Amino acid sequence: MDSLKGRDLLSMADLNSTELHTLLDFAAELKAGTRQPKCPNKVLGLVFSKASTRTRVSFSVAMYQLGGQVLDLNASVTQVGRGEPTTDTARVLDRYLDVVAIRTFQQSEIEEFAEYASIPVINALTDLEHPCQTLADLLTLKEAFGSLDNLTMTYLGDGNNVAHSLLLGCALAGVNIRVATPEGYAPNQAVVDQAIALSQGRSEVMITTDPKAAVENSHALYTDVWASMGEESEAEDRIPKFQPYQINQSMLDLAHQQAIVLHCLPAHRGEEITHDVMEGPHSKLWDQAENRLHAQKALLAAILNAT
Ligand code: CP
Ligand code: NVA
Repeated sequence: MDSLKGRDLLSMADLNSTELHTLLDFAAELKAGTRQPKCPNKVLGLVFSKASTRTRVSFSVAMYQLGGQVLDLNASVTQVGRGEPTTDTARVLDRYLDVVAIRTFQQSEIEEFAEYASIPVINALTDLEHPCQTLADLLTLKEAFGSLDNLTMTYLGDGNNVAHSLLLGCALAGVNIRVATPEGYAPNQAVVDQAIALSQGRSEVMITTDPKAAVENSHALYTDVWASMGEESEAEDRIPKFQPYQINQSMLDLAHQQAIVLHCLPAHRGEEITHDVMEGPHSKLWDQAENRLHAQKALLAAILNAT
């Protein structure tokens, strides 16, 4: 994992295929307890401008288990919330922290932070990407099927942050990825092109508006909220457009017999996923949420060169 020492993770595409596979294996070893790296006295800052349960808590617990410390630098309790520019905040926090995880709106904000800070910067969700989520998703898929070979992941819903990182991560991992969205909600074409380039012909990248075609014989069905943080005012209007993309029992019946169901959470039961499927035998939602901890612990250990 030497190659990740001191590196940023702003986008899933910051990793190459070998680094991604190595990181997933490392996360599995941490989960099994066969390796217990430590980085005492290292301090992680969490600079979050949006709400978070899983990302905040899993990053914090990961850092504590590594023997380090965490500072919760929620925008509302720092000068970030009063408009201190990123260029200034980055140069100041750089002098105190060893690593920082940022949750914000624009991808350009974390890019600017990374430009002005020498410490590693981790994307803890932007409007464009959610790479830490994808690490946990791929770990969950690998656990369910024993390997990532010859698998197809299908994402149904809004083609934004979670879908973007999943596209890039699956392409890097050699997993076929299909994304079905209502018209007007397709993933960014630049991200799709990047995913196709990263797949190097090893795996399929399908973007469609046809949910049934996307789900057919797929090994994993994945969804996310129909209106993301910052888009709450659009939630009502989106419901009828997104309804055909709901993960429900009849959609699951079209997938592979052993298909798993994933959701990054938080979920709106009865909208993007039914209660029955969420609580049913194909659901891996709680393993997926747990895997945020193991995947991010592996990432932090690799970035901080914990031994
Ligand atoms: N999936 C996820 O990132 O959850 P939180 O918003 O609770 O961190
Ligand atoms: N797409 C969602 C993901 C939350 C983890 C959002 O951005 O709100």
